[in-house]
Amino acid sequence: MTNSPKIICVSSGKGGVGKTSFSVNMACCLARQKQKVLLVDGDLGLANVDVLLGLNVRHTLRETIDEERPLSSILVEIEPGFKVLPASSGVPEMANISYEEQAFLINALENIIDRFDYVLVDSAAGIGDAVLWFNNWADNNIIILSPDPTAMTDAYALIKVLFHRFGKNRFHLLINNVKSKKEGRQVFNNMKNVLKKFLQISPDYLGAMPQDSAVVRAIRSQKPFLEISPDSRASRAVMEISSQILLM
Ligand SMILES: Nc1ncnc2c1ncn2[C@@H]1O[C@H](COP(=O)(O)OP(=O)(O)OP(=O)(O)O)[C@@H](O)[C@H]1O
Ligand SMILES: [Mg+2]
Repeated sequence: MTNSPKIICVSSGKGGVGKTSFSVNMACCLARQKQKVLLVDGDLGLANVDVLLGLNVRHTLRETIDEERPLSSILVEIEPGFKVLPASSGVPEMANISYEEQAFLINALENIIDRFDYVLVDSAAGIGDAVLWFNNWADNNIIILSPDPTAMTDAYALIKVLFHRFGKNRFHLLINNVKSKKEGRQVFNNMKNVLKKFLQISPDYLGAMPQDSAVVRAIRSQKPFLEISPDSRASRAVMEISSQILLM
């Protein structure tokens, strides 16, 4: 029997709002709840997932495209149930791969994902081609924003493009770097009003991640905060949000 995993794309428009940190920890959290998770580093030109996990990557997506190497041969197991598909860093042409290469990559991904329950794609910042086609490929679209006005305008710009180009109208908003749950709700409500007014879209509230020094410490130690600070506010928020993701 073939399995059909949930494909979730994590993006933001603006850079540096916490996509990679959230994706790595959510993948880890889902795996600890007995889910088989594949985390795809969708930042094809400036890979980050390997850095946040301290991986020594030997083979990357670039080689699978150039040498038609099977994707399964480059997967890295982080812990039981949690595998990473690493991307390459500092390879500008990967950020703009051709239409044929995209088709090859999606096809290759389709061939390995039936072994997983969840596929999480940590996408690049911006609204480049790869961000758009990973979002189009996904069944569920998580958009991360922070309380910064620029993060809100960039998230809006991304949602607008996905709506106009692919008819996507279901988005799960995650507010990162908040000082309180109340701030998370307020930012969500502002965004919800704008989306309703200009695009007639009603987003879902996935939740908020607190501003937490445990996140910064974990990134510096190249380990998930769930592992090194399991009782931190950030870890508790990820666990709470995972219960919603398990319902997707
Ligand atoms: N909840 C948080 N609390 C404190 N700091 C945070 C939090 N989330 C993210 N950061 C800070 O933001 C930085 C960027 O995080 P991250 O690399 O996950 O963002 P990104 O959206 O993946 O960036 P890029 O767009 O460059 O891929 C981190 O190095 C960390 O310092
Ligand atoms: Mg990133």
